[in-house]
Amino acid sequence: MNSVIDLQLQHRSIRKFKKEALSEEIVSKLVKAGQHAATSNYAQSYSIISITDPKKKKAIAEIGQQAHIAESGHLFIMLADQSRNASIVAKQGGSTNIFSSFDKFFIGATDAILAAQNIIIAAESLGLGGVILGCILNQVDELSTLLKLPPLVVPVLGISLGYPDQEPQLKPRMPEDLIHFENSYPQKDNISAQLEEYDNTVTEYYSARDSNKRFETFAQMVTDWSLQTNPGRLKMLGNIQKQDMAKF
Ligand SMILES: Cc1cc2nc3c(=O)[nH]c(=O)nc-3n(C[C@H](O)[C@H](O)[C@H](O)COP(=O)(O)O)c2cc1C
Repeated sequence: MNSVIDLQLQHRSIRKFKKEALSEEIVSKLVKAGQHAATSNYAQSYSIISITDPKKKKAIAEIGQQAHIAESGHLFIMLADQSRNASIVAKQGGSTNIFSSFDKFFIGATDAILAAQNIIIAAESLGLGGVILGCILNQVDELSTLLKLPPLVVPVLGISLGYPDQEPQLKPRMPEDLIHFENSYPQKDNISAQLEEYDNTVTEYYSARDSNKRFETFAQMVTDWSLQTNPGRLKMLGNIQKQDMAKF
């Protein structure tokens, strides 16, 4: 194929890092790569916070209940941000009401997520590893306070990056025809046979991997996941609306 696709097909999340911080130059390059992701209407409705204060990093590891976050070589927090756009419009004498719509929240979140994936790919191209962190939203109110987020700004994801100190196996993905359809969504539930095959692939992967061996199918994993309720995560809509976003 080519080196970009090869890199993408080799992606695996890294959660154990060597004790070496990323240089400012690398951080800046990664942010630049993130900034060149597509952005809805060219509005760049997101911001990125680098967490360089070890105390804040530790606090975020506690918020996410994942200790490895505190050991990362760099931690980014990706934010949906309509605050900057609202200031610009206010300065032009326009109404800023629209920035509290769900549409504008969704645009900000999408922009932030696209930038995050660009950052991950750029980091991996430099021999770094990392993991996207949804767990920073486990206590989203605490995170928003810690980062002093103003109205119209909400956290979307974290990205933990560093020099890899582990080599996890590649996680097998679903067969393409379970996830990629043509022209319309399939009307019949004819996925059992393919899922069974994928269940076996996932069981093989879980039982063969070096760390955290498990013996379950994909179906069991998804079912267990559906039963895990995280009270903090159920507060997300409330937090977003508290930040004056997604109100209509
Ligand atoms: C939106 C999102 C949130 C995630 N949150 C976490 C997280 O909080 N902690 C973590 O260890 N991994 C997290 N991950 C990483 C996934 O667990 C990982 O991508 C998935 O298991 C597939 O493994 P791979 O990335 O090694 O291919 C997240 C990934 C995404 C896309």
